[in-house]
Amino acid sequence: MRDVCVREHVEILLSLWYKFSMSPIPYIPDRKVLANHILFDANEHYSQWVKVPISGVTNLNRYPDQHSTRLRKRLSSVYCKPLKPEHILISAGSIEAIDLLMYALRPDQLIINVPSYDAYKSRASMHNVPTVSIPLKNDGQPNVDAILLANRSDDLLILINPNNPTGHLVSPEAVKELIKKFRGIIVVDEAYIEYAGLEKSFQHLVEQASNIIVLRTFSKAWGLAGARLGYVLGSPEIIARL
Ligand SMILES: Cc1ncc(COP(=O)(O)O)c(C=O)c1O
Repeated sequence: MRDVCVREHVEILLSLWYKFSMSPIPYIPDRKVLANHILFDANEHYSQWVKVPISGVTNLNRYPDQHSTRLRKRLSSVYCKPLKPEHILISAGSIEAIDLLMYALRPDQLIINVPSYDAYKSRASMHNVPTVSIPLKNDGQPNVDAILLANRSDDLLILINPNNPTGHLVSPEAVKELIKKFRGIIVVDEAYIEYAGLEKSFQHLVEQASNIIVLRTFSKAWGLAGARLGYVLGSPEIIARL
C-alpha cells in the first residue's frame, strides 16, 4: 500500500519535472529563501542525525592520512563485507569520484541513461569527454541493446541504482549482461542504496568482475552532505589507478 502511494507521488513529481524541464523559464531554487527548509532539489537528509563533534578536533595542523586507512578498514569490516580495504577509495563526495574517473580513466565517451542525475553530463563536458544519452525504457530499466550499440571501446557507462529521479532499481540481469558485453567500465552510482536496502547493491560483483565500480556517499541516508564524504568500490587494480 505504502509502495503504491509513494509510486503515485513519484509519478506526479515526474510529470512536474517534465513540465518544468520543457518550460522556457528554468526553475532556480533560491538558496537564501530556502535556507531553513528541506532542499528537495539537493536530495539532502532533512536533519543532521549523525552528530560530528567538530569542537573536539585538535589536530587540524596535521595533514590527514591520505589513504584514509581507518575508515577503509572500518567500511570493509562493517559495511562493505566481504570487500577488503584495497577495494575501497575514499573521495570528497561522489562528485570527486566522478572527476577522478574522468581524469584517470580518460574514457572515449560517457554513456548515461536519461532522465538521471545531471552532474554526470556537466562533469564530462568539463573533462572534454563527449556524452551519449540513452533514454530509459518505459519500465525504468536501462536499454541494454541501445547501450551496446552506442558503445565504442574505452567508454564509461553510468547506471544509477536506485535511479535519481525515477527511483527504479537496476535489474541484476541487465547488469550481468553489460558486465559480459560492455567495452569499458560500468559505474553503478548507489548514492541512495540505503533507502532500497543494501541487499539490492551490486557491491558483491566488484570481487567477481574487474569492469564494474560502485560509488557510494554519506551525503544522503547518513545525512552528512556537509562532510563531503564518499567512496568508490572497485577491483584493487582500478582503485590503484584512481
Ligand atoms: C545519483 C547521485 N549521485 C551523487 C550525488 C552527489 O553526492 P555527493 O554529495 O556524494 O557528491 C547525488 C546528489 O544529489 C546524486 O543524486
